[in-house]
Amino acid sequence: MDNNDIQIVLDALQLPAFLVDHEERITVSNAPARRLLGGALRGGHYAAVLRQPQILEAIETVIAGGGPARASFATSSGARETIWMASAAALSAGGRQGVLVSLEDTTEMLEAGQMRRDFVANVSHELRTPLTALIGFIDTLRGAARDDAAARDRFLSIMEREANRMNRLVKDLLSLSRVESEERMRPTGRLDMGELLRSVIQSLTPLVGDHGQRIELTGADDLPAISGDGDQLRQVFTNLIENAAKYGARDETVTVAVQVLARDPSLRCAALQIDVVDRGEGIDPIHLPRLTERFYRIDDHRSREKGGTGLGLAIVKHIVNRHRGRLRISSTPGEGSRFSVLLPLAGD
Ligand SMILES: Nc1ncnc2c1ncn2[C@@H]1O[C@H](COP(=O)(O)OP(=O)(O)O)[C@@H](O)[C@H]1O
Ligand SMILES: [Mg+2]
Repeated sequence: MDNNDIQIVLDALQLPAFLVDHEERITVSNAPARRLLGGALRGGHYAAVLRQPQILEAIETVIAGGGPARASFATSSGARETIWMASAAALSAGGRQGVLVSLEDTTEMLEAGQMRRDFVANVSHELRTPLTALIGFIDTLRGAARDDAAARDRFLSIMEREANRMNRLVKDLLSLSRVESEERMRPTGRLDMGELLRSVIQSLTPLVGDHGQRIELTGADDLPAISGDGDQLRQVFTNLIENAAKYGARDETVTVAVQVLARDPSLRCAALQIDVVDRGEGIDPIHLPRLTERFYRIDDHRSREKGGTGLGLAIVKHIVNRHRGRLRISSTPGEGSRFSVLLPLAGD
C-alpha cells in the first residue's frame, strides 16, 4: 500500500486520521484531521504538531515496535474542550513502517460518566442528611430522653418527618428511573386533559387550602383527546401545581389555563398548551436554564423545609419529552412564574 492508497482509505473515514511516516512526519491526513489540527499536518514532524506527552508516547511505542497504543488527546475550539481517544497502530506504507493514528471523540461518554458519578454523590448526600438525624435521635431516645415523655414525642415527630423525607426521595428516584427507561416508548393511551386536570386539582385542594390559595382552571372544557400516559401526565401537573402552591404567594390564586393551538411552530402540529401560573416571588432568569436539572434548587433550605426533593421538575421534563412535547418556563421576578406544557394533539 502506498501513500495514495492510504489517502483514499483515510478520506473515506469520518474520524480524524493521519499517517506518521518512517521519517516521523505526518505525510497523509484526511480532512477531519486537518480541520482539527490545522495545515501544519502536511509534512510536519508529529511531535511539533501534537505536543501532548500521552499521544506522543503512544506513537513512540508503536515506532519502537510495540503493539497498538491508545492515549487521550485534548483539543479546544473556543470555550469547548473535546477529549479524543487516539489509537496508534503500525501500518506499512510504501515498504516502510509508519504509524496510523485515528481519533475518536469521547467527550460525551466522559461527560455521561461524570454525570453518573455526580448523581450518585448527590443521592448519597440527600439520603445521608435525614439518616444522620434518625440515627442521632435513636441514640437520644435510648439515652437522655429515655424517661421524658414530652421529649420522646417531640423526637418521634422529627423522626417521622425525616423518614418521610427519605421516603419521598426514594419514591421520586424510582419514578425518575421509570420515566427515563420508558422515554423512548411512545405513550398510547387516549385521554381527556380537562378531566385529568380537574382530578389533579381536586387531589391538591387540601395542600393549596393550607396556603390560603385557590386554583382556577380555565379553557378545560370540550378539549380534543390527546394521546398520552395518564399516570405520568397526572404527575406532571401534580408537580407543577404543587410547586406553584409551595413557591407561590400565600392567599393568591394559582391559574391552570388550557388552550388549543391550531399549530405550534416548534412542534409543527396542532397542540394543547397548559399553563400553570403562580403569583409568587418569581424566578431570577439566571436559574431558568438549570431548573430542570436533578437536585437543582434555587434555595436549598427553603425547598427542604417545604418537603421538596429537587427532582420534581426533572421528572416533569422527562415525561414531557416522552410525549414529544415542550416545557417552557418564564418568570418575572416579583410577579410570578409560568410553566407551560405543550403537548402534540392526537392524530397529527
Ligand atoms: N413556581 C415556582 N416559583 C418559584 N420557584 C420555583 C417554582 N417551581 C420550582 N421552583 C424552583 O425550582 C426548584 C426545583 O423544583 P423541583 O424540581 O420541583 O424541586 P423541589 O420542589 O422538590 O425543590 C425549586 O427548589 C424552586 O427553587
Ligand atoms: Mg417540586
